[in-house]
Amino acid sequence: MIDESRVAGGALSSDGVAADVALAEVRQLRAADRPTHGGRLFAYVYDPAVPGLDDLAAAAHRESAHVNGLDPTAFPSLLAMENALVGAAGRVLGGGPGTTAPDVVGSVTSGGTESLILAVKAARDAHPEIAEPRIVVPSSAHAAFAKAAHYLRVALDVVPVSMDTLRPDPAAMAAAIRPETVLVACSAPSYAHGVVDPVAEIAGAAAEAGVRCHVDACFGGWTLPYLRRLGEPVPAFDFAVPGVTSMSVDLHKYAYVPKGVSVLLHRDAALRAPQYFAYADWPGYTMINPVIASTRSGGPIAAAYATLRHLGDAGYLRLAGVTRDAVAGLADAVRAVDGLRLMAEPESTVVCFTATDDGPDLFVLVDELTARGWHTQPQMSYAGLPASVHLTVTASVAPRVAEFGPDLADAVTAARATGPVALPPELRALATSLTPDALTPELVAGLAAGLGLGTGALDRMAAVNTLLDAAPARLRERLLVEFVGLLQRPAW
Ligand SMILES: Cc1ncc(COP(=O)(O)O)c(C=O)c1O
Repeated sequence: MIDESRVAGGALSSDGVAADVALAEVRQLRAADRPTHGGRLFAYVYDPAVPGLDDLAAAAHRESAHVNGLDPTAFPSLLAMENALVGAAGRVLGGGPGTTAPDVVGSVTSGGTESLILAVKAARDAHPEIAEPRIVVPSSAHAAFAKAAHYLRVALDVVPVSMDTLRPDPAAMAAAIRPETVLVACSAPSYAHGVVDPVAEIAGAAAEAGVRCHVDACFGGWTLPYLRRLGEPVPAFDFAVPGVTSMSVDLHKYAYVPKGVSVLLHRDAALRAPQYFAYADWPGYTMINPVIASTRSGGPIAAAYATLRHLGDAGYLRLAGVTRDAVAGLADAVRAVDGLRLMAEPESTVVCFTATDDGPDLFVLVDELTARGWHTQPQMSYAGLPASVHLTVTASVAPRVAEFGPDLADAVTAARATGPVALPPELRALATSLTPDALTPELVAGLAAGLGLGTGALDRMAAVNTLLDAAPARLRERLLVEFVGLLQRPAW
């Protein structure tokens, strides 16, 4: 019989547990995670391997965790730290006093996706007269633009990238601009391959058409300027480029701050104005939000502030140098292995490789690397581009580079010996012929069971990846929604 006076369950214990017990539980759960530190995880995390930095960020986070960014007049500390972060990002990206973009303004958001959604919202709301707004993006643009377009009911015009350069043709970007286009976007660099788009040409075309141009520097905005200072041939990509109206840079990536901080910058306050949401037509407080969230913890902002203050310009320059050397070492390791080739010569902090025609199966290779303690990110084939393996390289990888080469060679040998995953023919037929609407919960549960999903053992993913790679994009999306839905169940 259910005791109606007690609702304990899941995270809610019946009488509360001791603080050390609760913390021990968190630590025990964390033990199953991929390693966030140590330079062996090439996605999701950004680790500078600077002693004491985590403790500093955690202390600053604790200081401001309960501060609410909802009202900057109630918590001036947060406003001051936000303005300092925006000033720093503006400087790093070619704006501020003494530059050609002295009036840059911005906001701190929770991440790259939110920054991009807001860039699209600002562009859309600047043109209320356009009934069916559109944005133009290269096919290599981050999926967050598609999310923005979906959330904001803006049409997405996707310009394919060249198979050779992995960049869009500026003329094709220009040709895609229509009277309803409110924003043209490009990446510096793209996440998947780490290449910098031809920003100057694209921004020039956008300016000529009188359209905003957003440069998504979420991933590389904090490293490209430092790489340039180290002598790397980084093309113009920031506010120094006429026609660039907004930019985004994620501090929780290469500024090495804890998760939850990105900066969205506009060339001037007038461009930013339509980003705000204000509402006074209810009995409560007038809501004025520059970003999507209303209540916002000061924790991530304080942690970011303390991190930037501590590392400083010289720290970031040093970390960029360490990372650049790690990238060069990893790329050499890939070049040295028969059967692999780089998708592009590294020009930022990504190493991305694929298999040659007689090379190993990439998805099996990814599993073999996992078995050797290297966590890489498989990328599916797309519109003529082959499947690839993505490595986001951070400073913490540097001491590991020498170990990577032999392990990669060994993993390739093992993957060749194993051969590609032989999907049962009926499964492959399903992947290629099924329409997303035909997916029933039973079918998904059967597929998940057949692929070994839900058993907790996620180290051998080649079968899943092979199936997903065979499925058209729409079906892949649906399958993953269903699979993730199976994982996201309440723990009672
Ligand atoms: C180029 C680029 N833009 C946007 C994003 C989205 O950032 P977030 O995951 O912080 O929302 C990413 C994330 O990797 C990125 O690489």
